[in-house]
Amino acid sequence: MIVAIANQKGGVGKTTTAINLAAAAAQRKKRVLLIDLDPQSNSSMSFIDPMQVTAGSYELFTQPDKPVAELVYKTGIESLDLIPARINLAKLEAKLIGDFDAAFRLRDRLKDIESAYDLVLIDTPPTLGMITVNALVAAKYVLIPIQSSYFALEGTDDLLETIEKIRSRPNPDLELLGVLVTLVDKRTALSRDVESHIRNVFGDKTFKTVITRSVRLEEAPAHKLPVTSYAPRSSGAVEYEELAKEVLKRVEKRTTGRRANAA
Ligand SMILES: Nc1ncnc2c1ncn2[C@@H]1O[C@H](COP(=O)(O)OP(=O)(O)OP(=O)(O)O)[C@@H](O)[C@H]1O
Ligand SMILES: [Mg+2]
Repeated sequence: MIVAIANQKGGVGKTTTAINLAAAAAQRKKRVLLIDLDPQSNSSMSFIDPMQVTAGSYELFTQPDKPVAELVYKTGIESLDLIPARINLAKLEAKLIGDFDAAFRLRDRLKDIESAYDLVLIDTPPTLGMITVNALVAAKYVLIPIQSSYFALEGTDDLLETIEKIRSRPNPDLELLGVLVTLVDKRTALSRDVESHIRNVFGDKTFKTVITRSVRLEEAPAHKLPVTSYAPRSSGAVEYEELAKEVLKRVEKRTTGRRANAA
């Protein structure tokens, strides 16, 4: 079950969600693979030392004969694996230009390993370029984090339009798994207004769980730990655990539904 975490807006909590949702799902005994597709490598650095990485997501795209297993690293969290990003990923967009199957590279590579995991999460960069398109073509679902701020919904139309375009051709199965409200400050009226506006726009697609602002969430990556290990009783840990339950429920419900339809 492949889920792309996407929003071309920067700093909305994509990476924080990728690392902590991945860890919370793994701690619920799911076999999880996190793929870092952002050249900033923040997801990767939250688990491993970049010096350790000799090949990662760039090679996934550029070396089709290299077994995917050679690009997978252990994270220190049981049943959570990682395909890390390195700075060379920044060269990928330019390399894909003019390649007629550029949008399908990731999908092709993940076919071999998809079945080894219960959940594959893809962290994407803050652009709607070919890297993000590859993630959306490979994925079954997209999870959109939206920051609770005055300009929260600015830019989401472009993202939804891209999702529609991908659904109309390369990936008709792509579904919006849900919208996650992040960086919430429950003390402010603005934050409450923005949350209710997002719920009006996205209805049931909005996750019940919201992620509030928490210093522990900011600190955890420096300790190479997800928040659920670094500060298990913090609000961030509790919220990402709740989110993992909601995500797994939505994903599993749809899988069961699909099986029932097929029968
Ligand atoms: N709930 C939160 N509470 C406090 N800080 C947070 C929270 N969520 C994210 N942050 C912080 O906000 C910054 C941006 O978050 P993050 O890196 O997850 O966003 P992003 O969407 O992945 O950014 P980019 O678009 O640059 O990849 C980081 O410094 C992160 O630690
Ligand atoms: Mg990020």
